Amino acid sequence: MYKLVTKEVLSDVSKKFEVEAPLVAKKAQPGQFIILRVDEQGERVPLTIADSDPERGTITIIFQEVGLTTKCLGQKEAGDYIADFVGPLGKPMEFPEEPGRVIAVGGGVGIAPVYPKVKGFHKAGMDVTSIIGARCKDLLILEDEMRAVSKELHVCTDDGSYGHHGFVSDILQKYLDDGEPIAEIIAVGPLPMMRAIVNQTRPYGVKTVVSLNPVMVDGTGMCGACRVTVGEETKFTCVDGPVFDGHQVDFDELVARSRMYLDQEKKALENCRCGGAK
Ligand SMILES: Cc1cc2nc3c(=O)[nH]c(=O)nc-3n(C[C@H](O)[C@H](O)[C@H](O)COP(=O)(O)OP(=O)(O)OC[C@H]3O[C@@H](n4cnc5c(N)ncnc54)[C@H](O)[C@@H]3O)c2cc1C
Ligand code: FES
Repeated sequence: MYKLVTKEVLSDVSKKFEVEAPLVAKKAQPGQFIILRVDEQGERVPLTIADSDPERGTITIIFQEVGLTTKCLGQKEAGDYIADFVGPLGKPMEFPEEPGRVIAVGGGVGIAPVYPKVKGFHKAGMDVTSIIGARCKDLLILEDEMRAVSKELHVCTDDGSYGHHGFVSDILQKYLDDGEPIAEIIAVGPLPMMRAIVNQTRPYGVKTVVSLNPVMVDGTGMCGACRVTVGEETKFTCVDGPVFDGHQVDFDELVARSRMYLDQEKKALENCRCGGAK
């Protein structure tokens, strides 16, 4: 059993927990994730390690309540326990090979997986320009944390309730047109956002990496649930990723696969007893 040490409500649908997991905290590196089960009958859910504190023996997770498991997790309070917590999984992030500006783009809850990477770049002494966006101001998370580790921070909202009225790609376009060397762009968010950004940067030939979030089951490269085609090769996101060269990813296949379990997920939510069907 793993103890939830602290809880913070970031928005109506986003929650942050510190989880007591000393062994995971000792080994975790930016870019890696964990798989948890809320209870012994529950499904296994992957979440990025947003932060870790080896001295306190804790890991931070930030998640958006989208379905049964994340809604059940969101109902937990500090002091409660969850059944399993496995990690750190996935490959740690790599640093850009080329000199120049790094641009980090985070959309919605994708800001949570972008944050530890920007923190890693910042710790390594690199200057990062961050562009974060959400549908509206109330859904925006981690603005202060991102500002603290970024040289420049731009905020966008789809409805114009805060920051730039429009998409993260609008701001990114200015940097692409500017012509200053960009070492790497890292984009994490909903699939349509990541697909739009790789299509936007492809003509400029700027390396663009994405962090993928397909359905996962075992997290060990054995079950095949998280397979993705990258550069015409089959890769498993859990062991080969989750970060890949966005220009090589087959997004059409990923979008089709992400819709495969919609009916089952809807039924699970309708039947759940944790307040998710309200
Ligand atoms: C490596 C990795 C890291 C992740 N990190 C985070 C994180 O830090 N914070 C966070 O909030 N989420 C993260 N996710 C996504 C998270 O795992 C899913 O949101 C979660 O599994 C949904 O479970 P559920 O039972 O609550 O919802 P489900 O009932 O499984 O799904 C409900 C709805 O959410 C959609 N959905 C389900 N899984 C995903 C997914 N992987 N991506 C996008 N939409 C999905 C479904 O299509 C459906 O519409 C990550 C995923 C991966 C693979
Ligand atoms: S989750 Fe099973 S192969 Fe990746």
